[in-house]
Order: sequence, then C-alpha cells, then structure tokens
Amino acid sequence: MQRQRGSSSFIASPKPGDSELFFWQAAVRWGPSAPRLWACGGRRRGWGGAGRGGEGVEGPRSGPSFTGFPVGSCGATRLRMRLSHVLSEHRLLRLRPVCTMLRKSVLRLLGRTGASRLSLLEDFGPRYYTLGSLSARDDARDARAYFTTPIFYVNAAPHIGHLYSALLADALSRHRRLRGPSTAATRFSTGTDEHGLKIQQAAATAGLAPTELCDRVSKHFQQLFQEAGISCTDFIRTTEARHRVAVQHFWGVLKSRGLLYKGVYEGWYCASDECFLPEAKVTRQLGPLGDSFPVSLESGHPVSWTKEENYIFRLSQFREPLQRWLRGNPQAITPEPFHHVVLQWLDEELPDLSVSRRSSHLHWGIPVPGDDSQTIYVWLDALVNYLTVIGYPNAEFKSWWPATSHIIGKDILKFHAIYWPAFLLGAGMSPPQRIYVHSHWTVCGQKMSKSLGNVVDPRTCLNRYTVDGFRYFLLRQGVPNWDCDYYDEKVVKLLNSELADALGGLLNRCTAKRINPSETYPAFCTTCFPSEPGLVGPSVRAQAEDYALVSSVATLPKQVADHYDNFQIYKALEAVSSCVRQTNGFVQRHAPWKLNWESPVDAPWLGTVLHVALECLRVFGTLLQPVTPSLADKLLSRLGVSASERNLGELYFLPRFYGHPCPFEGRRLGPETGLLFPRLEPSRTWLVKAHRT
Ligand code: MSP
Repeated sequence: MQRQRGSSSFIASPKPGDSELFFWQAAVRWGPSAPRLWACGGRRRGWGGAGRGGEGVEGPRSGPSFTGFPVGSCGATRLRMRLSHVLSEHRLLRLRPVCTMLRKSVLRLLGRTGASRLSLLEDFGPRYYTLGSLSARDDARDARAYFTTPIFYVNAAPHIGHLYSALLADALSRHRRLRGPSTAATRFSTGTDEHGLKIQQAAATAGLAPTELCDRVSKHFQQLFQEAGISCTDFIRTTEARHRVAVQHFWGVLKSRGLLYKGVYEGWYCASDECFLPEAKVTRQLGPLGDSFPVSLESGHPVSWTKEENYIFRLSQFREPLQRWLRGNPQAITPEPFHHVVLQWLDEELPDLSVSRRSSHLHWGIPVPGDDSQTIYVWLDALVNYLTVIGYPNAEFKSWWPATSHIIGKDILKFHAIYWPAFLLGAGMSPPQRIYVHSHWTVCGQKMSKSLGNVVDPRTCLNRYTVDGFRYFLLRQGVPNWDCDYYDEKVVKLLNSELADALGGLLNRCTAKRINPSETYPAFCTTCFPSEPGLVGPSVRAQAEDYALVSSVATLPKQVADHYDNFQIYKALEAVSSCVRQTNGFVQRHAPWKLNWESPVDAPWLGTVLHVALECLRVFGTLLQPVTPSLADKLLSRLGVSASERNLGELYFLPRFYGHPCPFEGRRLGPETGLLFPRLEPSRTWLVKAHRT
C-alpha cells in the first residue's frame, strides 16, 4: 500500500452509562511497508489493572491510567471521529503492551467500516487539532520549562558561534511559549562567565582590571542579544553577589555530604579551556621558532604543568549513578550520538576532580567558604549559574528544577553531561532533564579564532542580512550533529531563494490587488474543494495534488513540534520550506491570475484557491515565529491575524475543509503591503568568501 507516513486518531464513545470508561483511542500509523495500528485506552479515575502506571491523556493529574478495557463494548456504530491526541512515537512504544491487547478488537471495528473508512481516517482525520491537544497535555504535566544557554566567556567579543548557541535556545523557548497555554511558564536564561584564569590573564594582557574587562564585554553580549531578538528572561553575570551566595552554598552542601577532600593535584591545566587534562590528552606542537610546546589534543590550546594542594571532588563515586541516569533516560542528551559518546566516556576510568585553585595563583574568582587561600574552580562556579537564576538556595528554585533544558556546544559536553550531573547528584538533586548539543560553525573550513583572524562579527551580519534573515540563516543551515561552514554567498543565496522569492513571492501573489481586489480573506467553497478526494462533478476543481498539499500543511505543526523536541530546528525549517514550495506549486497550477472574479463559474474557485494559499501562509507565519519573529509578525499582520490568534495551540488549519467555520473568511487583509523580505544584492565586499576545494 502506497501511503505517506502519517497518523490519525479517533475516539470511540463508551457505552452510555459506563461512567468509568472515559475514552479509548487508536492511532493508525503508516510506515513505509504495512500499516501499523496502535490503540490505547484511559479512564477518568484511577483503575488498577493492566496499564496502571501508564500514561493518561486526560483526567486528574494524580493518577490517570491506561488499561485494557472491553473494546468490544464500543460498537462500531458509535465509532466517530473526534479530536484526539496523536501520541508521539516513543509514547506509543511505551504503550505497546496495551496496544497489542487492543489491536485485534480495533482492527475488527475498523474492518466493519471498510477500507474506505481507514483512508478517511488517514487522510482527513481532524489533525489540525492534534498539536493543540498535545501541548495542552504536555503542559498539564510539565507546566514549567527552563531553557539555558551556556554563559559566555568575556575574554573576547562575541562571534557567530556564540550567537548560534543563543539562537537555538531562543527558538526552543519561543516555540515552547507559543505551544503552551498562557499558564505554562517558560524561563530562558543566558549570561556571561566572568571568573577564572582565562579572564584574569585576558584582563592583564589588555592592561585592564578584571571588572573593567567583564563590564565591557558583558555589555557587548547583552547588546548583541538584544539586537538579535534573544528573548531571554534572565541575564546572569557570575560576578553578581547573588551568584556568589549560590556557589558558596552549593559548595557547603557538597562539603557537608563528605564529597570534598584536600589533596595534591599534579597534572596539566589548560587555561583557555579551563580544564585539567590527563597525559594522554596532551600532545606537543611546533612553535614558529621550531620549539615545541604542550597543547591540548582536543582544542589545540596550550597547557601548563600544575602542582598544588586543592580541594578535590569525589567524582569517581558517580560513574555508575551517571551511567544509570543516562541508560534510564535515553533522551537526556540529544542528538543521540552525543548521548552515546558520554556513555563511552563513562566506560573509562573517572578520576576525582580538583575543584579549587590556590588564590595566590587564581585570585579572580569566588573564595572557598572558610578557606580564603583557595578559589573555587571556574567550571563549578559557572555551572551553578543555572541554579542562581532560579533563586537557589531559596526553595523557589525547586519549582524550576529539574524541568531544565541546557543548550550547549559540543566542546563543553563533558562539563555538562558528567561534571554537572555529578555535582547535582552529590548535592542531592536531579540532573537536568535535557541537554541539547550542537556542533560548531567554521569559517572556510577552519575553526574560528582571534589568532587566525577569521572571526565573523555577528553584528555586521545582522546589519547586512537583517535580524530575521540572519537568524533564519543560522538556524536553517546549522545542523546540530555536524560542523557547518560559513560564507556570505551561502547566506545571500538561501535568503533570496527561501524568504524573498518563495515565501515573499507567495504572499505577494495571493494578496496583490490585481488578484485579490477586495483585499480580503476570500471564502472557501466546499463544492469546488470537497473534503473527500476523487469526487466528480461540474463544480469540483480540486485535484489529487491539492489534497496532498492540504495533508502536508495539516501535519506540518506536528512535524515541526517533533523536530523541535529532537533539537532539529533546521529540519523544522526544511519542512516549512518544502510546504512553501508545494503551496507555490498549487498557486502556479491553478493560476488565479487567469481566473475571473466576474464569472460565476470562476469566482468561487478563485476565492478557494486564494483561501487555501492564505491558510497555508497563516500556518507558515505561525510556525516561523520562533525563528523569524518580525518577519512572521509582518506576514501574519498582512493576513489580518490578530495577536491572540497566533498560538500553536489554536492553529486550526483550513477549518472550512473540515466542516468548521473559519474566523478569517471575509476578514480584511492588513494594510501593510511592503515586500516581506527584499532580495539581497550579492555584496562586492564579502566578509567571508566561499573556499572551493
Ligand atoms: N563559559 C563556558 C561555558 C560555561 S556554561 C556553564 C564557555 N564559554 S564560551 O564562550 O567559550 O562558549 C559558549 C558557547 O559558545 C558554547 O556552547 C560553545 O560551544 C559555543 N561556541 C563557541 N564557538 C563556537 C562556534 N564556532 N560555533 C558554534 N558554537 C560555538 O564555554
């Protein structure tokens, strides 16, 4: 059977009077080969039985349960399509035992209604409800979400890699805010990492007091993030008094739990990476004068030999707890290859970790409580920022922890996926819920660095390509699993083709006065575009490809949400872009400019073509908000969509097609007629040229 991958769901009502049975649900999923059918049931009050402890879709938070209940009691006559919840793949898998039990019964019910019914479910299920109901359910369970970026070192000005880290977190948190009801609270923090040897040395080199350097560079980050539309709710600086309190308290907890001891640490230290390295991770590099010096194998930064008495954290005790945490939470680190790498690291020995430095050597930091001769290790200091922001050590922090998603670059994975969870476990707290890892931007195939002189200034890019343009570029081209190479030509090509031509062109085609003289959202005609494909009749104008378009756009919000959950924002944008192309194809196919508003035969179809295209644009605009907020605002305003109609939860695509009223029909379009995204001219002064090998 040739079918697109997809899913639909429905509810069969319980027998009247069966008050305990709340609903049952089935999801039909079409894989590349045979169709698979899943079903699950739930009830309002806690039952014992087969599915206890499973997952409930509705009902009291205290204990909804799934169970195998008598499906046979739900007659086929009472089978009716209604809104439901399409479960994500992993949730379906968790429900497998219940599904298996119900599978036969559901197939029998569906079988009675015949294959056509199946295809009806597949093609015209009320999928436009799914995202809303999904998010409502998610939010009932996790009403709070806390996103964080790494805090940025202030030894140098920000570059596009830093902006990328912040943009990923920004898009995730904006998407989350759009998805949830207004009661779902979202917090998003970023900031600057201002202590440590690296900053102490950078200030000395610049001939500045450390505070002066910190103030200056921290301001750069704040300005950049403001210009780039980073919607953080908190900006933390580790030199703030509230942070010192949090770090010293956290230290005290580790100490009181017997996890810190004094010992002599001897080994390599890399000031640029602020980390200790075993001999095996150090190599020698030739200097310009032919002399050789030791560097970190991973980062290539110079290292120096250190021997001193420090406080040491019993990290070795946490190898097994960390393994258990990761094995029990396969989504803790996303994308999966990074999860795997961390488990591999944990297969090796995990030595105890020095967590302080002699103050005579490192004075720029937070002193160890009760021992001024030692300064707390900058990574322990920096990681605690995630707690400081949410009010630690006051109890309020507990409402945000561990509902946390850390967004980090691959170079700081070990600190976030091993040290940080170990510190937290040591302090009696849970590890963070998710760690999203991204790869790096290179320039002409090389790492960006001040010494190579190839650092790309993000503010120049924002000016040149516009804020929305550059945000779109970084998020559309940045693939978390692999490094991405930057050059200007790539930006111009992408933005011209996807934002200016495809999306902007589509909007223009459907709103231009010559095609849409009344400048309204025209009516949808159900006889021209009936909800069942294959109908023939004099007024039926929709073709098979048009149904495919409706199906693609109807499932787009769910697809996009899944990509966000998997930290594949570029895939979400790829999916939107593919639907934009499909919609352009739809408009091209029906050439509304050749239809005549005066003709009673053409007019309903002309209105329908424009209505469908505007509905698609409304979905694209809504879904693009987390990535290109101003452009999406311009687009939605032009369509006449009000601020309260832009949430993902209420994104009911093409309701008239599904037999519901459409609030937009007949509405006047917004007055702003300017270009959505003006084409960019190729620059004669590229910041970075493409390198061809
Ligand atoms: N201060 C530490 C983080 C402490 S978090 C408790 C740090 N700072 S950093 O300024 O060096 O890096 C901040 C973030 O920028 C990291 O996620 C890092 O991966 C990211 N990037 C730095 N260079 C990058 C690229 N070239 N490309 C993409 N992101 C990169 O580490």
